[in-house]
Amino acid sequence: MSERTTWNNNYIFLMAMIGSAVGLGNIWRFPYIYYTNGHGTFLIPYIIAILVLGLPFIFLESSLGLKFKESLINTFQKVGDKLQIIGWLIIITVFLITTYYICIVGWDLIYFFLSFTKAWGANPATYFTTNVVQSSNVLHFVPLVGISILVIWILIWFICHKDLNDGVGKAVNILVPLMFVIMIGIVIYSLTMPGASIGIKEFFTIDWNALGNLNIWLAAFGQIIFSLSLGMGIILTYSSYLPEKTNLTKNAVMTIFANCGFEVVNAIGVFSILGFMVLTSGIPFNQLIIEGTGLAFIAFPEVFNVMGPVSYILGPIFFLCILIAGITSLISMLELISSSIGDKFKLSRKKVTTILCIIGFLVSMIYATSFGSYLLGIVDSMLNNVILLLIIIIECIIFGYIYSMDKLMEILNENTLFKVGNWWKYCIKYITPIILIILWISGVLSFIFTAPTKELIIRGALILILIIGPILAYLITKKLDIKKSKSNNLN
Ligand code: PHE
Repeated sequence: MSERTTWNNNYIFLMAMIGSAVGLGNIWRFPYIYYTNGHGTFLIPYIIAILVLGLPFIFLESSLGLKFKESLINTFQKVGDKLQIIGWLIIITVFLITTYYICIVGWDLIYFFLSFTKAWGANPATYFTTNVVQSSNVLHFVPLVGISILVIWILIWFICHKDLNDGVGKAVNILVPLMFVIMIGIVIYSLTMPGASIGIKEFFTIDWNALGNLNIWLAAFGQIIFSLSLGMGIILTYSSYLPEKTNLTKNAVMTIFANCGFEVVNAIGVFSILGFMVLTSGIPFNQLIIEGTGLAFIAFPEVFNVMGPVSYILGPIFFLCILIAGITSLISMLELISSSIGDKFKLSRKKVTTILCIIGFLVSMIYATSFGSYLLGIVDSMLNNVILLLIIIIECIIFGYIYSMDKLMEILNENTLFKVGNWWKYCIKYITPIILIILWISGVLSFIFTAPTKELIIRGALILILIIGPILAYLITKKLDIKKSKSNNLN
């Protein structure tokens, strides 16, 4: 067997981990989750989610990566043959995320160009729905979105088809630090804007009663899963390229600091800017419309409209920052999928990346239609609130009960001063799954009772894909394995 590639150095690995974690989830998702879930109150479940879910899970995935030094599917196969089905469930889920995630990055690319002239005009909300995503009841293709998605796919292909250090390594080495510099610059500027203090006051407002609301907890745990790319095998795959003697716990803590620090600091900037909006528009803080896509592509253009000449610099830089964050996350999703499929089907990195990018491009064209943004909202909420939570619960059961965590604990404690104790096992075995099961049930129930019938059909179709897809993939690869072992025996 050929030697597995390793990262050129630990710094590059860290940049890749942070690049994967910091993404649209931090810039586009976190501020509105924070805004709609109790402002400062949200910080409490958020910190708890980091401690009982974020940290333990990064420990789990990175020790699995270092122990097996294999891609996700092969790792699951080594733990138990049938568990590969779960591996495929994860791969297909991440593939589905990739295909809509790239669409949002595509929208961002369009806004990057628009921002040089503020081409969205006086009414950014209408511009977004009628000119960019072109939502309508009649199905039609939206060429502009299609082209910008294609451009991003080509970029991703260009980075990922090369060897690990030449492609992913070089890209993250440049892009991740650049992204931090841009974000810090924007936040510092936003703090100096008139009205910033209104936003900051809102940011730190805590309403203790709101803590009893299960939705806030669901949102916090969901955010940590998405933002840290937990349970998706990405941390496992990236860690499988590490050399034997690596301090995993230090890397885990640094990744969390960078990712969560990024999103909290960024949100302080966003809230300051919203404070400025309150001052200029007179609309009360709690009535600003910033949910979902609205924040990046509607609220920000509105702010740039009233900001004066500096917005011609700030605008493009802001959209560039989202673009970089999105690309470094997309790279990690593709790395996970291509390493697993490449290993299983014995395909070269170049070949598997090319095939995946073509298929991915074709699937993502669903979002380059007039139904795109509607569909995207449903798929996003379904995968994040239902499927990803379920995957993490299953992983807690597999690694907490079927596989011995002691073997992993040894690896974690080998090269570090900060020893992981039994609390880690308690988290994976009891605390995390129990909390997640409660949240999952409440989330699923609210979905069933509140979703309109049309949405239920789309959700049902997604569930079907996620049940049939992994079983089919397992059976196909099983056949391949049998063929391979037969021909080996003949030789
Ligand atoms: N963590 C990324 C973000 O915050 C999203 C992501 C999800 C990355 C799944 C990889 C896999 O945007």
